[in-house]
Amino acid sequence: MRTTIERIRAMRDAGERFAMVTAYDYTSARLVERSAVETILVGDSVGMVVQGHDSTLPVTLDDMIYHTRMVARGASRPLIVADLPFGTYAIEDDAVRAATRLMAEGGCQSVKLEGGVAQASTIRRLVEIGIPVLAHIGFTPQSVHALGVRVQGRGRDQARRVLRDALAVQAAGAWGVVLELVPAQLAAAITARLDIPTVGIGAGAGCDGQVQVWHDLLGLYEDFVPRHARRFRSLGGETVAALDEYAAAVRDGSFPAASNASSWDAAEVAAALE
Ligand code: KIV
Ligand code: NA
Repeated sequence: MRTTIERIRAMRDAGERFAMVTAYDYTSARLVERSAVETILVGDSVGMVVQGHDSTLPVTLDDMIYHTRMVARGASRPLIVADLPFGTYAIEDDAVRAATRLMAEGGCQSVKLEGGVAQASTIRRLVEIGIPVLAHIGFTPQSVHALGVRVQGRGRDQARRVLRDALAVQAAGAWGVVLELVPAQLAAAITARLDIPTVGIGAGAGCDGQVQVWHDLLGLYEDFVPRHARRFRSLGGETVAALDEYAAAVRDGSFPAASNASSWDAAEVAAALE
């Protein structure tokens, strides 16, 4: 049975933490399905770790629908949240259209969008028409050219701004809020003030849940390791080792083995080809 938003909120109310991981395709979604992770984010980080762009800005709504569909085919238990990409929700009517397509064609159960006070009325509109919204505040990667990649919320003015954003998205009806690159103590204080779950990334252990990018936590994306990430495995290195062994086995003839192909009596082959 699918993990519901109700279930995540109940976990939060019971003081249980939950895990969210990004996934972008069927095979990885199948692996999350078999794991203890409760929720999948089809993140627009796909633009960086899959498409090779240097930001999330080039990702299109069609890209997000494409990836969300693949994930939805592989995961029937985790709650699936998908990102609304840059430029698809700045105007409220666009947001309705984009979120509707992402839910209906992509098959997610919630959308995520970046912004606090500035997005409150859009969040309210989506929630009113039955689209659950996970908000995303603090450092918001779609604003990288305005903000730079840096911690948000240090100092009195910024801290109050992040709190205002959190309260605004809660009041607008968001079911939860991602806090990205917010000082741990501020994230914990905001988590304590809110009635909805917080999901941290680079925001400390005081959040109700955590979200990590697939490639970061598996050690697949080696161009850059963010400070907030932990490599629970080094599958990038493991993968290269496997490829090297494969290439060597092809060269020395030990792969494929007899068992890797069908066989037919050599004499019968010769007779058949006469
Ligand atoms: O796109 C993404 O992966 C995200 C998370 C890092 C929160 O938005
Ligand atoms: Na994102």
